[in-house]
Amino acid sequence: MVAPFWTGRRGGMAGFQETHDRLKRVGQEHLLKFFPTLDEKQKTALLAQIEALDVEALPAMVERYVRNRAKHSPPSGLEPVDAYPHDAKSSKKPWDKAKYKSVGEDLLRAGKVAAFMVAGGQGSRLGYDGPKGCFRAGEVSRRSLFEFFGLGIRRAQQQYGKPVPWYIMTSPQNHASTQAYFSEHRSFGLDPANILFFQQGMLPSFDLATGKVLLARHDEVATNPDGHGGSIAALEKSGAIADMKRRGVEHLSYFQVDNPLVRTLDPVFLGLHASAPDSSGEMSSKMIPKFNPDEKVGVFASVMKNGRRVVDVIEYSDFPAALAKDTLPDGSLRFNAGSIAVHVLGVSFLEKLASDKNFELPFHRAEKKVPFVDLETGEHVAPTSNNGVKLEKFIFDAIPLCRGSIVLETDRIEEFAPIKNATGVDSAESCAQIQTLRATRWLEADGVKVPRKADGTPDCVLEIDPLHGAESSDIRERVQGLVIHAGDRRVI
Ligand code: UTP
Repeated sequence: MVAPFWTGRRGGMAGFQETHDRLKRVGQEHLLKFFPTLDEKQKTALLAQIEALDVEALPAMVERYVRNRAKHSPPSGLEPVDAYPHDAKSSKKPWDKAKYKSVGEDLLRAGKVAAFMVAGGQGSRLGYDGPKGCFRAGEVSRRSLFEFFGLGIRRAQQQYGKPVPWYIMTSPQNHASTQAYFSEHRSFGLDPANILFFQQGMLPSFDLATGKVLLARHDEVATNPDGHGGSIAALEKSGAIADMKRRGVEHLSYFQVDNPLVRTLDPVFLGLHASAPDSSGEMSSKMIPKFNPDEKVGVFASVMKNGRRVVDVIEYSDFPAALAKDTLPDGSLRFNAGSIAVHVLGVSFLEKLASDKNFELPFHRAEKKVPFVDLETGEHVAPTSNNGVKLEKFIFDAIPLCRGSIVLETDRIEEFAPIKNATGVDSAESCAQIQTLRATRWLEADGVKVPRKADGTPDCVLEIDPLHGAESSDIRERVQGLVIHAGDRRVI
């Protein structure tokens, strides 16, 4: 069954009694506790919201994921993944970078590639009021995450002479505000006809102690978006896949809304995905070497599943601790392939999965602070510790379903500076520092001197305009003769 909590709407609206009986059969009738106090509009909205839920599936879900913590089967036959190294001439696995780049560029010139951004998350760790993509990730330019990506796509269009459609997954919680932001900013100079927004499904959020579905307000069930893995069903259901086929799009360059350094359209990666001998062209991934065994990123590994050796992502919490520390003779981690949530997806692969009645990605459980209505007092509560369970699906769980899936190593400073948290690791501050490091690296490669502090870090704040370049060589001519002074704040 695909996206059960989204497709559950049945013909005709049920009334109070029918809905109450349905809920009572599964022990969730408290959701209608405040119904008599609501006005007509609120009543209709609440009944409609409940009707869209797959109420009958709740008991099994609560038993498996809320009362118990369904364990994902431990990985068997765990081996490091055989990734394409960043340095294409590396003796580990030499490969012809220029050849794959040219394949990827041909795909872009033929208009066979679209960008696909997942932006339906709640961004609760950042605590930003509004869609996370509106957050200003440009320390100097003050440009938003959305603008970074929009300009990157514009650059690729100029370079390859073909429109690049941009599919954007939102959730019902941020759909309207995301679209409004794009309109206010004139879609960053892109043709709005090539930007396609679609909404993901929602799942009910549960009370950690009782397994009851929480009420967010007297007239609203507490729900959360169903995870980036919900995108596969949502792409199909929304008509986005049909739209891709009409446009002749064969591959999607997938990225998340929080990483302004992502290469929105990387020809080398696209070419590897589409034509490497060990790729099925179904789903490919980028990785970076982990900093240390404890870094909290999923790890690509080769595992045995259903009698087949496949590539999989193992969550850091599920990775056997002893193996995570294993090192090679050169001291590097044996399982070092950290996921940066950058993929290429084949449109026909997505279509195959979404149309398969038996296809379902597993749920992952997260304990979170979920605001709720106290059923006794009727008051709203903003919990200070985790009181709720949210379930989500993850897109990377589709990787083991591929016939063959490649992983490409990339460089952290070039491509990965996510903004997840308000402070500290993976924050706006660390992102700005990495942006400066990357710009410094590019400038120095092009012969420009960058002032440094006593500790060796750049003594300036630098940012690259995504319209000007996606890699160092793109800005070479532009920066000839450039002088950077200590304390400068500049967009290159
Ligand atoms: P995160 O795992 O960082 O989750 O999402 P989040 O919801 O944005 O943030 P927190 O955990 O509440 O702080 C990674 C990417 O997946 C998207 C996010 O928008 C982000 O681009 N995502 C996540 C969705 O599109 N839908 C979801 O249901 C969850």
